[in-house]
Amino acid sequence: MGKLDGKVAIVTGGAQGMGAADSIILAAEGAKVVVCDVLDDLGVAVAAQIGGDYRHLDVTDEQNWAAVVTDVEQSHGSIGILINNAGVVGFTPVATTELEEWNRVIGINLTGVFLGIRAVAASMKTGGGGVIVNISSTAGLVGYPNLAAYVASKWGVRGLTKSAALELGRANIRVVSIHPGGIRTPMTAGIELSGMFASQPIPRIGEPEEVAKLVLYLVADATYSTGTEFVIDGGLTVGSALNITDNTDDGE
Ligand SMILES: NC(=O)c1ccc[n+]([C@@H]2O[C@H](COP(=O)([O-])OP(=O)(O)OC[C@H]3O[C@@H](n4cnc5c(N)ncnc54)[C@H](O)[C@@H]3O)[C@@H](O)[C@H]2O)c1
Repeated sequence: MGKLDGKVAIVTGGAQGMGAADSIILAAEGAKVVVCDVLDDLGVAVAAQIGGDYRHLDVTDEQNWAAVVTDVEQSHGSIGILINNAGVVGFTPVATTELEEWNRVIGINLTGVFLGIRAVAASMKTGGGGVIVNISSTAGLVGYPNLAAYVASKWGVRGLTKSAALELGRANIRVVSIHPGGIRTPMTAGIELSGMFASQPIPRIGEPEEVAKLVLYLVADATYSTGTEFVIDGGLTVGSALNITDNTDDGE
């Protein structure tokens, strides 16, 4: 018996990285997972690996959302789980970010999450409730230089999560945000992050499977949590652990 037997889950950006790891762990617990992405070949492969379905879904396209939700409901019944994971990063300073680039990042990372919540809310209500997990970032908790649109989008996801949780709680729908630090995925493959990891109390990169375990916990077991933040960042946002003297020595 899996923890999610009989549940139907949509995972956006499920073709690779954290979304693929989320899809794998939810399916392993018995959910019927619909992997959604714009990278069709990779998405089809993840779906085949887990016995799930694949749907092409550009999260910025409201008609695409409506069509996917209708299709999934007809194929599998009410949607009980939505992982709003799709995202992109863009490295530009606020003073020189082109409007087109700003709109691209906000469109995928923030508007895409709004469209997803809106698209599944009725289906979840019909099914008696559900869980929506929004993947924000430590960039939704603090600021980073040269990531203006990304930081704004991830703070937006954090706030949107709280409004949605308030509005949907009485319909038995929980909405939470996850705030990962640096995780080993295609998104971070070309980025030099070793300096950041060196300052963390857990001084290493995180793995997508570690985030997926938190996703599973929030979906299956966190029955008294909604609207709040779950941080998984190796201690990055706690402070710097550089230059801490060794206090494990008992002095003998
Ligand atoms: N990797 C990290 O260190 C890190 C840290 C904090 C937060 N995040 C967030 O976690 C989420 C997953 O990131 P990842 O590292 O696995 O990235 P990734 O680039 O490996 O995967 C992101 C997925 O989203 C998909 N995607 C992009 N635009 C899309 C669109 N318009 N419609 C549908 N799918 C789209 C991509 O095709 C890709 O499969 C993102 O929201 C990201 O911002 C990542």
